[in-house]
Amino acid sequence: MASADGSEKLSTAILEAVDRRGTVNTLEFAAELGRDHQDVVGSMNSISAVGEILTTEQKQTNQWQLTDEGHSVVENGSHEAAVFNAVPEAGIAQAELMKLGANAKIGFSKAMSGGWIVIDKSDPAAPLVKRKVPTIVDTVQEHLRQVAADKASAVPEKELKDYKKRKLVQFVIVKTYNITKGPCFTKSLVKLETELLPEMIASGSWKTASFKPYNFDAMGSSLDCGHLHPLLKVRAQFRQIFLEMGFSEMPTNNYVESSFWNFDALFQPQQHPARDAHDTFFIKEPATCNNFPDDYLKRVHQVHQEGGYGSQGYGYQWKIEEAQKNLMRTHTTAVSARMLYKLAQQPEFKPAKYFSIDRVFRNESLDATHLAEFHQIEGVVADRNLTLGHLMGILREFFHKLGIRKLRFKPAYNPYTEPSLEVFSYHDGLQKWVEIGNSGIFRPEMLLPMGLPKDVSVIAWGLSLERPTMIKYKINNIRDLVGHKIDLKMVQQAPIYLIDAES
Ligand code: PHE
Repeated sequence: MASADGSEKLSTAILEAVDRRGTVNTLEFAAELGRDHQDVVGSMNSISAVGEILTTEQKQTNQWQLTDEGHSVVENGSHEAAVFNAVPEAGIAQAELMKLGANAKIGFSKAMSGGWIVIDKSDPAAPLVKRKVPTIVDTVQEHLRQVAADKASAVPEKELKDYKKRKLVQFVIVKTYNITKGPCFTKSLVKLETELLPEMIASGSWKTASFKPYNFDAMGSSLDCGHLHPLLKVRAQFRQIFLEMGFSEMPTNNYVESSFWNFDALFQPQQHPARDAHDTFFIKEPATCNNFPDDYLKRVHQVHQEGGYGSQGYGYQWKIEEAQKNLMRTHTTAVSARMLYKLAQQPEFKPAKYFSIDRVFRNESLDATHLAEFHQIEGVVADRNLTLGHLMGILREFFHKLGIRKLRFKPAYNPYTEPSLEVFSYHDGLQKWVEIGNSGIFRPEMLLPMGLPKDVSVIAWGLSLERPTMIKYKINNIRDLVGHKIDLKMVQQAPIYLIDAES
C-alpha cells in the first residue's frame, strides 16, 4: 500500500496533469510515472470521494501482458537461447541437453526450427547436437521486453499469438479511465475530516468543514480467530427457527444407542432390512446393553409379536437379544422416542414441541453426496387430536420460515409413521422438484405402549443438514464440505448463512 505521503503526491500529480492536458488516461499515466495502474485508479477514486472534482469515464482496453513464465524469459532469456548457450563448440549429446530442465524440450525444438542448432549424425552410434550459427539474437526476449514496457504494438501479431500459445503472454481486458475536470475542479485538495471532534463543535468549525463520506461497501478486515464450519453456521440458523416457533432442544449427546430405542421402540420389526449390518454400524465392545424400563419393554415385545391397541402386530417371535444390540444411532428419531417415553411418564400430559440437530451414522456406500455419517434435523409436536392437516400446516410454516414456499407432499412409508409424507420443494436453480424431508404421524403401536393418552398424536419430520448447506454454499461434492480433504480456507471464508426467509 502506498504511504499517505506517496498517495497524496500521486493525487496532486493527477490533478496537475488533468489541469494541464485536459484529459488523462489512467493506464497511460501509470506507465508514464512507472506506477502500478491500480494505485492511480485508487488515487482517482479517493479524489472523487471528496466531491465532483473529476469526471471519469470508464474504458475497456485489451492489453498484452506477460505471464510469470514470460517475466522469467525477460530476466533470463528464452528457452531456445538457454539451449543454444548450453551447446559447446564440440557438441553435446541430446540427452545431456535435456538435463537443463523442464523447458529444455521446447527450447530444443525452437532452436532446431530457428536454425540455431543441428544434429550431427556423422557418428551414427553417438549423434551430437552442434551449433549451426556462431551467435544468435534472442528475439523472444526482445519482444517480451516490449510487451513488459506496454509496447506490444511493436511486436508482430503473428509472434504475439505464438507467445500466447507458449503461455509467455496473455491477452487481458483492462478497465482504464479517462479523467477530465469535474464541475468542482480544484488543484488544492482539502483534506477531508474523518471524525467529528468535540473541539470542532466548541469552535463551530464543523459548520464549514468537509467530512469524508462513509463507505458502506468497504469490506471488513478478516478476523484472526476461530471460524465455524458451514454446517455449524447453518445449524445455528435452523436452531433459531425452531426456537422462534417455541420448540425446545432434545439432548442428543449419545451417538451410541441400543437397537431397542433406535428400532424396537419405533415399531420397526426385527427382520427389517435397515437393521442389517449392511445398513447399520453395530458396536463390538460393549456389544449389548440391558437397562430398559421393564414394563415398557414388555409392552413393546407384545405389540411387535401379538399386537394390541387395535393392532394385529407383526406376528413374529420378538427377541430381547436383538433389542439389546448396541449400535451407532441411524437416526435422531431414537432420541425422539426416548423423549416421548419420558413425556408419557409425566403424571399429567402436557403438549410438547421438541427439536434436535445432530449426527447420525449409516453403513452406506460413499459417493459425492453420501457419507457414513451426517446430520439430521428433526422436529416433533405432541398434542391432543393432531391430524394430517396439522402435519401439513406445521411443515408449511416451518419451510416458510426457511424461505421455501413451493411445497408438495407425496405419500410414503415409514415403519413408525402412518400416514407418512415425503416433502418436495421446487428448486429454481435445478428447475425440478427435489426431496427435502420425510415426515409423518407416529403410529399408535409406538405411542400407546409408552403410556401416552389415546387422544394424543405426535407429528414428526426430519431432514438432512448437509443438503441445504451444500445447496447454499454451492458445494457439489460432500467431500469438499466434510472430512480431512476440505480446504480450511473455505471454512475461514464461508460467509454466514442467512436463510432467505420472506416474512
Ligand atoms: N427418521 C426418518 C429418517 O431417518 C425421518 C423421519 C423423522 C421421518 C420423523 C418421519 C418422522 O429418514
